[in-house]
Amino acid sequence: MVNPPLAMLAELTHRCPLSCPYCSNPQELTQKDRELTTAEWTDIFAQAADLGVLQLHLSGGEPASRTDIVELTSAAQKAGLYTNLITSGIGLTRRRLEALQDVGLDHIQLSVQGVTAQIADRIGGYKGGFERKMHVADHIAEMGFPLTLNAVMHRENLDDLPATIEMALRLGARRIEVACVQFQGWALQNRSALQPSRDQVIAAKKTVRDARMRFEGEMVIDFVPPDYYSDFPKACMNGWGSTGVNITPDGTVLPCHAAETIPGLHFERVTDKPLKEIWYDGEAFNAYRGTDWMPELCQSCERRDIDFGGCRCQAMAVLNNASATDPVCTKSPGRAVLDALLEQEVQPEIMPELVYRKL
Ligand code: SF4
Ligand code: FES
Repeated sequence: MVNPPLAMLAELTHRCPLSCPYCSNPQELTQKDRELTTAEWTDIFAQAADLGVLQLHLSGGEPASRTDIVELTSAAQKAGLYTNLITSGIGLTRRRLEALQDVGLDHIQLSVQGVTAQIADRIGGYKGGFERKMHVADHIAEMGFPLTLNAVMHRENLDDLPATIEMALRLGARRIEVACVQFQGWALQNRSALQPSRDQVIAAKKTVRDARMRFEGEMVIDFVPPDYYSDFPKACMNGWGSTGVNITPDGTVLPCHAAETIPGLHFERVTDKPLKEIWYDGEAFNAYRGTDWMPELCQSCERRDIDFGGCRCQAMAVLNNASATDPVCTKSPGRAVLDALLEQEVQPEIMPELVYRKL
């Protein structure tokens, strides 16, 4: 039986003042003139609520790059959705934050690129960004918004994890999500520059363990370790077409943010067809739904209903086969390919140039 989605990620725009090399947006970004209008998004939010979606993540790019962000948040609230704004903070003034609070924005997830201006501005590719972000964080705290700090970690900043956790506490975050870069979308071409070393990962796990004990009751620490060093894959999207749906800036409906990297799948647009029909009957949503598509290795595995065979886009990126077992899995023949990649790419003495995201 197919259940309705619980969460929707709305990529309102691919425009962004930052140009982080780890961006999860696709390598081919959508231009402003192809973005959905306010009225189209308003209709999508109503359809989503009707379908059963509870949580809406307003994302991008930078969602505050949309001049109608307050109107869109208001429309989502009126549709009855819980709204979470995923933002770099750049473009959010005190006045805009107050307007967002007035229309009922529920939660803010603020991304940080580093603990000092030097590293944050270098990674974000935006001079002065760190300072502006810290001002926004102060406003968020003063206004009492529930805040999650979203720290994307990689080879260049993973050693700063203790200071990153301290920073989240200082900014009044109730939760910090320490997410090691997932190599999809734009980030994939920076894999060798951003992939941390095994020693960094071991140290980070210890930092998280210690900090969880130290700050218990004060702040929740979520940790997404780097996939490539795990023994088993993550349950990507909690299973394809099971609980989450993504909408791109031009209204294309995707089972996950990187699904367009899988050739041969046909993705439909919510401007052409009702969301409900796409979710239940869309060819792309049914391609890897459930367990029938799985290779025998996963079909007969005791973890089949835990990780659902892992990530289809990762199998595509590493093995060129979206139907294969995720190569992170130690039972998979693809694991050898992943290990060879790690050995080849993670060399402390070589620091490849970062390729910054650009529209
Ligand atoms: Fe998961 Fe498939 Fe590996 Fe089993 S064989 S652990 S289901 S990826
Ligand atoms: Fe597409 Fe994991 S990112 S299935």
